Amino acid sequence: MKNISRILSRQSHRVFHRRQFPTISHSPPISQKIHTTSVHPANGAKNKIRDPITKSTMTTMYQHGPSASEFARTYNDRTGGCNIRLATHLIALVKPYLPPTTAASAAEPLRILDNACGPLVLTNAILHDEDIKAYANVHISAVDFNEAFIENNQGIIDAMEYRKGVTIQTAVMNGMDLKFPDDVFDVSFTSLGIFAFPDPVKGARELYRTLKPGGVAALTTWKRVGWVSFLHEVERRVRPGEALTQFPFLEAWSVPGKLAETLREGGFGDVVEDEVVSYAWFEGEEGAARSLSETVEMLVGRNWGEGGKEKMYEGLRRGMEGGSELMRRGDGGKVGFEMVAWTGVGRK
Ligand SMILES: C[S@@+](CC[C@H](N)C(=O)[O-])C[C@H]1O[C@@H](n2cnc3c(N)ncnc32)[C@H](O)[C@@H]1O
Repeated sequence: MKNISRILSRQSHRVFHRRQFPTISHSPPISQKIHTTSVHPANGAKNKIRDPITKSTMTTMYQHGPSASEFARTYNDRTGGCNIRLATHLIALVKPYLPPTTAASAAEPLRILDNACGPLVLTNAILHDEDIKAYANVHISAVDFNEAFIENNQGIIDAMEYRKGVTIQTAVMNGMDLKFPDDVFDVSFTSLGIFAFPDPVKGARELYRTLKPGGVAALTTWKRVGWVSFLHEVERRVRPGEALTQFPFLEAWSVPGKLAETLREGGFGDVVEDEVVSYAWFEGEEGAARSLSETVEMLVGRNWGEGGKEKMYEGLRRGMEGGSELMRRGDGGKVGFEMVAWTGVGRK
């Protein structure tokens, strides 16, 4: 954490100078304002700004070990792009609470946290959002406790093209212990992250603490993962009578109210929970079966007994060939599964 602390303290006057945007605290409660606005694709390459990568010295296996780097390396293939739709949706949900564009300046840009950022899908969506482009100055802090993601993210940032006035900083950071001062961010995103925190309420408290008064947090967790239902369908067919593969952390968060309650316990008074439908698309049946069997292995360890991953791959592939109500077919032989997420929006 040495580097992070150094950077934060060095920047504390300039970057984390506190300022509130009065208009935001006068806006009506979330429950009256939630709506979805359209988000447009990227247009136009702009100047690049580089910020330094920072690392912590955290040492747990999950954060730094082989499974963590494998998780990061294969992440985009395994998500099948379902997180992109969630990212654009979350951005749309926070728009009613953004401060006026005139309130942001070079000294005090619009400050956004991409928490548990993974490979910067949300950050990328922020950069391409037309309404966010209206802010002359934007600073994005993209943090994750998986060092492999953060190492890779610096390369992604270097390759991104974005306009003058935008800065992005990526750092290794635990969502339950954010190394930011109080009252810093205008907007805080945690997409598909909080369910992985050992103490999610602690994570919610950190979001609340680091938001400016009037600031807004937007999160997603999974309500229904389509490929899990498909896996169970295959298991019933291929291994009748045997226990279905369980995903305890997904099940715990699938229930209504869990995300909203976590935010309330974290200090948010004004919370709205809703849902959004997305799809995970894979390259054909083989690609889908490979990706899903790897994901299952990664999430719950080897199962289906000896040679479990290969057996599961074969079972899934045959199941897809046979067709199922639970899968969609897209252009170019793509295979898709519906992914339904909870969204939670809370204001400080
Ligand atoms: C499913 S991925 C989501 C990544 C990204 N937000 C997205 O939408 O694609 C979950 C992320 O949460 C991160 N994560 C898990 N526990 C965390 C913690 N305690 N603090 C910070 N990040 C954490 C993981 O490293 C991983 O990048």
